[in-house]
Formats: sequence, structure tokens, C-alpha cells
Amino acid sequence: MDLPGKHVVITGASRGVGAALADEFAAKGARVTLVARSVDALAEVAERTGGSAVPADLCDRAQVDGLIERIEAEHGPVDVLVNNAGIDLTGAFTDMPMTDIERMVMLNAITVAELTRQVLPGMINRGGGHVVQVSSLAGTGTFPGISVYGGTKAFVTHMTAGVRLEMKGLPIGLTVVETGLITPTEMADSVLSYPPTEASFKRFYRLLLLTDADVVKVARKTVRAVEKGKRTVRMPARAFLFPSLTNAPRRLVEWFLVGVPRRVGD
Ligand SMILES: NC(=O)c1ccc[n+]([C@@H]2O[C@H](COP(=O)([O-])OP(=O)(O)OC[C@H]3O[C@@H](n4cnc5c(N)ncnc54)[C@H](OP(=O)(O)O)[C@@H]3O)[C@@H](O)[C@H]2O)c1
Repeated sequence: MDLPGKHVVITGASRGVGAALADEFAAKGARVTLVARSVDALAEVAERTGGSAVPADLCDRAQVDGLIERIEAEHGPVDVLVNNAGIDLTGAFTDMPMTDIERMVMLNAITVAELTRQVLPGMINRGGGHVVQVSSLAGTGTFPGISVYGGTKAFVTHMTAGVRLEMKGLPIGLTVVETGLITPTEMADSVLSYPPTEASFKRFYRLLLLTDADVVKVARKTVRAVEKGKRTVRMPARAFLFPSLTNAPRRLVEWFLVGVPRRVGD
């Protein structure tokens, strides 16, 4: 997709990966609309990128309901949706209150599915669009302390494989971003603050199976993936085996389904 003039909506854009994505998309000449809760931080990113801020709590079902319609009414049709907002709430599974499980599943999974569902019909009618799902390598190989988080990321990656089947033959791009820790971010600090999770990451670092990914590099690679219509962004490259192995059955099913209708009317 040629990005100049395109309208890109990024959730979780007040800091971290989302703010870096806003910078990179804006640098390519795209018009960015930024969603998160922190009004001041969001306004700051909007000012430096020339974008628009849409404060919203994406754990609140009432605010998620009809969000894309409200954004399109005010800021125009969405060409690219980046589902980036996410929380980890790292800690012992048995100590996790149900409210934390609910918040994580709502923001990391239900909101991602719902915003994707809201945005696709307009993109299809207009003849093009792209959705980026910021998932994680934790959706493939998970660690102690991030059980529910990893589960939500597995949901995002797997759901997107199904949506891809339903979008076959349509001018819709889908990119799944699967990385290890991204630094510097508040989430990386949070993940490493729980000793069993930190020890697990250190073991993988020692085995040379994992390195941290730089936030700006992740943003640049993701924007390039949208430009080139790439299905995945995987960092670090050395961890390619884990997501590739998990993805193999999905690719096989895709291959077996050649010629089988994916939508009513096919
Ligand atoms: N950092 C990593 O190591 C890492 C690794 C792999 C994947 N990821 C994924 O990358 C994405 C971004 O993570 P990050 O590292 O940038 O995390 P971060 O620095 O903690 O930023 C999270 C973003 O999500 C927003 N957010 C949180 N709760 C929200 C809510 N209820 N409603 C709306 N927005 C909300 C935050 O804004 P407000 O607080 O202002 O609402 C913030 O903009 C996540 O999906 C994460 O799972 C991160």
C-alpha cells in the first residue's frame, strides 16, 4: 500500500510501540488517528505527528462499540487499522484476580476482534485496506507469569489466520507482528519485574534463542510490512522457528482449502 495520504488508526498510541508506529506512519506521509486513555500523552503524540487524538478506554465495551464508525464520521474512512493496545499484568497465575483476567482478555483479545470486525466491511466496500495485529512470540511459546497474556496473543494470531481465510481474494492485507521483548517500553519493564518471568527470559538470552527488539526497529519493520503487504513481522529473526512451527498447520489448512468457498456468495 502507498502510505502518503492514507488514514491510519493506531490503538495504544500514547507511548511505547504505538507512539513509535505513529511516528513512522506519519513520516511516510500517512494521516494518523491515535487511540488510548492518557489524554495528555496522546495529545503530545498527535501534535508531533500532525495526527488526531481520540481518547478512549478500550476495556470499556460501551466505548469499543461503534468506535470505528465514530472515527470515520469525524476523521474519514480508515485505510489501515493497527490493533496495538495491550496489557500484560505479569504475575503469578494463581494470584490473579478475575478482574485482571477480564481486562486482559477484553483489551488484548475481544477489542482486537471487534475493531477488526468493525473496520473490514468499509475497507472491502472501498476496495482496499490493511489490518495490523500486534501479537507476540508469547502467543507461540509462553513463560511463567504471562499465562493469560500469552493466551490472548495466541487468540489474536489464530483468529487472524481465520480472518485471512475469509478475506481470500479480497484486497485486504493482514499483518501479524510477533516479537520477543520490545525495549524500551513500560511493558518490558513490567514483564521483567516478576522474577520467574525475568529468569525465563534470561535463560533464553543465555541460550541465544532470544534478544530484545528495539521499539523503533519494530515500528519501521511493521510500516514496511504494510507497504509491501507482508503477512508477518517476526523479531528477533533467530526466533523464527517457534512462530513458523505454530503457523505450519494454519498454512496447511489454507492450502487444503484451495477452491473451497470462504464466504456466502463465493
Ligand atoms: N513491550 C514488549 O516487550 C512487547 C513485546 C511483544 C508484544 N508487545 C505488544 O505490543 C503492544 C504495545 O505494547 P507496548 O510495549 O507499547 O506497551 P506499553 O508501553 O505499556 O503501551 C501500551 C499502550 O496501550 C494503551 N492502553 C493500555 N490500556 C488501554 C485501554 N484500556 N484502552 C486504550 N488503550 C490502552 C496504553 O495507553 P494508555 O495507558 O494511555 O491507555 C499505551 O498506549 C501490545 O499489544 C503488546 O502486547 C509488546
